[in-house]
This record gives sequence, C-alpha cells and structure tokens, in this order.
Amino acid sequence: MDSIDSIVANRFGNLSFFSTSSRLYKFEKIKNITTRVKLKHPNINLIDMGVGEPDKMADESIINILNLEARKPENRFYADNGILEFQEAACKYMKNIYNIDWLTTENIIHGIGSKSILSMIPLGFINPGDICLMTVPGYPILGTYTKFLGGEVYNLPLCEENGFFPDLENIPKDILKKSKLLYINYPNNPTGQVATKEFYEYVVNFGKKNNIFIISDLAYGTLTYDGYKPLSIFNIDGSIDICMEIHSLSKSFNMTGWRLAFVVGSKKAIKLYSTIKGHTDSGQFRAIQKAGAYALDNYYLTDINRERYSRRFNLLVEVLEEVGFKAKKPKAGFYCYVPIPKGVKKGIRFNSAEEASLYILSNSLISTVPWDDCGAFLRFSVTYDADNIEDELIVMNELKLRLISLNLEF
Ligand SMILES: Cc1ncc(COP(=O)(O)O)c(C=O)c1O
Repeated sequence: MDSIDSIVANRFGNLSFFSTSSRLYKFEKIKNITTRVKLKHPNINLIDMGVGEPDKMADESIINILNLEARKPENRFYADNGILEFQEAACKYMKNIYNIDWLTTENIIHGIGSKSILSMIPLGFINPGDICLMTVPGYPILGTYTKFLGGEVYNLPLCEENGFFPDLENIPKDILKKSKLLYINYPNNPTGQVATKEFYEYVVNFGKKNNIFIISDLAYGTLTYDGYKPLSIFNIDGSIDICMEIHSLSKSFNMTGWRLAFVVGSKKAIKLYSTIKGHTDSGQFRAIQKAGAYALDNYYLTDINRERYSRRFNLLVEVLEEVGFKAKKPKAGFYCYVPIPKGVKKGIRFNSAEEASLYILSNSLISTVPWDDCGAFLRFSVTYDADNIEDELIVMNELKLRLISLNLEF
C-alpha cells in the first residue's frame, strides 16, 4: 500500500471505480488484443472502424487564422470566460444552422471542449444524494462528475424497441423526486438516432413538469445526411428556461485536439456555468477562439465532412448488409450501430457484443466498439483512415473479404 492510498478521497478510494469499470475494461481489452494481433501479423493492416474522431485535419483556412492570430501579442493573455468575437460568431451560427435568431452573447459562453463543459455543470446543480438521469449507452461525463460530487446516476437505456429514445414515463417516482439533471445526446453516440421536434417537445415538457434541467449534447449536431436538418432543443418554445445545449467544433470542423465548444442557455444558467468555469480554467487560447469564430462563420466547411461521411456510410452499409449484418444508414453522426452476429457458422456463439468484437478483432484485425447496455451491438465508425474515394473502396473491399472469411452466422 502506498501512502497516497490512505489519504485519497473516498470517491476514488475504491479503486474498482476505475479498474473494473466496464467502459475502461472494454477499451483496455481491445487495446491489448490489438497489440497482440499486430505483433503476430505485422504485415496485415488493422482496419480501425472503432475511431471516434474525424480522420481529416481542420480546413487549411482555419489553420491559417490560428497561425495569424497566434502571432498577435494581444492574444497572449488569459482568455478567462472567453472573447466576444467567438460568442457573436456562435450566436450567428445558431441562427444559420438552427434558425434560432433570439439568442444574445449573454446566452452563450465557450468551453474547452464539450467534455470540460459537461464535467463542470454538475457542480452547479448536484448536492449529495441528487440524481442525474443518463441515457446509456452514451458519453458518461455528466454522470461521472455527478458521482464525484456524491450524487447518483439513474440509467435510461436506449433500446432498439424504443427507437433508441429514453422511456421517461416509467421512471420511479422516488427517482424523479431526487432528479436534478437529464442528459440527452442527439444525434446520438453510439446508436446514430436523431431527435425529432416531437421528441424534444416531450423532453421539455418532462423537464418542466418535474423540474429537471435538461443537458442536451449536440457534439454531432451538424453532421446530417439525406435531408435530415440539424435540430436544436431551442427550436421548442419555452425550452430556454429548462435546458442547456452544448455545441462542439470537434467533430463538425475536425478540431478535436483544439478543444473548443460552446454552451447555450438562459442568462441565469450561463451565469451559473461561467461562475464555475471562471474558478476552474482561464479560457481557451484566444487565437484558437478566433480560428473557431472563423470556422463558425464559414459553417459551409462542414459540408465537406457531410459529403464524405454520407458517401462512406453508403459504402459501409452495403458491405455490412452483404455480409449479413442488419445495417441501416443513420441520418446523422458518424456511427453505424448494428446488432451482433449470433456467432460463427458451426462454431462458437457470442454471448455479448464484447465477445463478438474481440473475436472479430483477433481473427480478422477489424476493430469495432462493442456495446452491451441494451442489447448487444457493434459500432462501426466512418472516420476510418482513407485519403480519397479510391482508398475508401479498397478499405471497404478488404473489410468485406475479412468479414466473409469469418463465416459469421446471423
Ligand atoms: C456524445 C459526445 N459528446 C461529447 C464528446 C466530446 O466532445 P468534445 O471534443 O467537444 O469534448 C464526444 C466525443 O466523443 C461525444 O461522443
């Protein structure tokens, strides 16, 4: 036992919190097997369909602005709660993309990525014993920080039979009473589901009726396909009183490492968040915010990603269907979420998505992300490495050949 063990906070004292967390465990196993299989077959390329980040760099024009702004002496200072230029660009973006024209810069503040925003919000709402309603599978940060603060998480499974929407009707009364926050994320990671106006109306009514604040995560908000239009919860009248919405530049503008996002809410909600933020970080580098403002003003840049991902989904869904998967092109995001095969013809049975994913990885060097929260599903991402259409076709052909050779049974 190290001396640190006896003084570490209770919330971390139970080390099982980290080491056996299924999420960490799963990714750890995938990493270990990938290393082993690569060593065994050094000449075979891994087809990495598990990535959760864009495969391309930010547009050259955005990088040029960063280059220019990084050299200006006035940008060298702490940025604190952000620069007006970025907030103004975010306001315009909300109008251009979501047709919301009534926001002011007091309704918007930047964050060092959505992850950072999600980690701070619970501090504003959660007392020990309070509950955060979290959709699962999903991005867990809001729930993780709720637990860090002595709160609890109540999971709302996203099941295929419910169209990958949470069932808010059947939450026990005692849970509802203690609930302060509800996390939703549409376009959804990993299921690929998108929100409808009716769904947002239902959520807003639920929030108002039960006095539960809604945190809506739009990390994939603009990456939409085949006529589906980006939709914000603020497209619902009166939602500003009960919701905060988080927008990120990570996925839309290929800026994951740049760490830039913004949160939209009522003036009071933004004041609450900015108070927490002001005591936590000193803002993102002004030059990055200026490059971000440029990106938001030139929102058409996301069209390039939309076109590429849409094309890749068409190819991927075709391959997966040919092999036997029940695959459907999502209307947004970059994940194809498919039920696992039963097993291998005249061979082993898969008891979970994790088993299926690890088998596919070990035997054909294809990496996917398994989810076992509600049914057993594999997540294939369209952000795999390929320079151009020709490369994409080569990767897809190889994917098909490898999957066929596994003799999967559905
Ligand atoms: C649903 C969801 N929200 C938020 C994030 C993190 O976004 P950011 O890069 O803005 O922190 C991710 C990243 O994978 C995500 O999938």
